[in-house]
Amino acid sequence: MAEFTLPANSKVGPGKSFPAPAGAKRTRDFKIYRWDPDTGQNPRLDTYSVDLDACGPMVLDALIKIKNEVDTTLTFRRSCREGICGSCAMNIDGTNTLACLKPIDDVSGSVRIYPLPHMPVVKDLVPDLTHIYAQYRSIKPWLQTVSPLPPDREQAQSVPEREKLDGLWECILCFCCSTACPSYWWNGDRYLGPAILLQAYRWIADSRDENTGERLDDLEDPFRLYRCHTIMNCTRTCPKGLNPAKAISEIKQLMVVRR
Ligand code: SF4
Ligand code: SF4
Ligand code: FES
Repeated sequence: MAEFTLPANSKVGPGKSFPAPAGAKRTRDFKIYRWDPDTGQNPRLDTYSVDLDACGPMVLDALIKIKNEVDTTLTFRRSCREGICGSCAMNIDGTNTLACLKPIDDVSGSVRIYPLPHMPVVKDLVPDLTHIYAQYRSIKPWLQTVSPLPPDREQAQSVPEREKLDGLWECILCFCCSTACPSYWWNGDRYLGPAILLQAYRWIADSRDENTGERLDDLEDPFRLYRCHTIMNCTRTCPKGLNPAKAISEIKQLMVVRR
């Protein structure tokens, strides 16, 4: 799999070093991308030496420890710390993943941490998700029906109908996949990318949705859908074990069937 080490167009210079506390026996260096737009300076890599005997096992534990005990200016997103909210997605040791699910011991040597690649950076490890959220909004990620809804009960699905959503509903919109996709790097202004296309298929595949035709019409476009060249970085990197490339191919097959 391709390694992603630097966000586009950045000149990362050497940064500051923060040693481990005296007496620490088992230490690990975390080399972390730092950029603060308010300073007007180029990005840099700061090195924090962390005492692993006084730290939780995951990369997110180390980031929180650094922020709490060493450098309060370090900026990153996190919330659930159990792989549910998707907010701690970042590039760790060359791979897009969730910091809260990434064991420190899975990395040999220094732990290199950058923001998700090829996204504008707000500060340090925080990517600007404005554009990708707008793309998400564009696929109308909610159930659309024409028929009157049952007044006194939920809309039922059979077991096989419900099973079609497995592998789709679990997506936490972390965008590890889209930011690992070379087609999204180069055409992300118009190509929807794997995360949003998996979400689009989640609603297309839902037996209760009655707007499939319009949903497919919206995707029938040389850029929104057809920039996927089956490179598979998306599926390889998904920290939830999902297969966005398969969802994209299912949409393409539906396009062929209805022609
Ligand atoms: S399979 Fe398609 S969406 Fe996935 S990384 Fe490749 S080009 Fe991107
Ligand atoms: S498909 Fe996987 S990598 Fe992509 S946004 Fe969803 S959970 Fe994240
Ligand atoms: S903190 Fe929620 S997924 Fe990592």
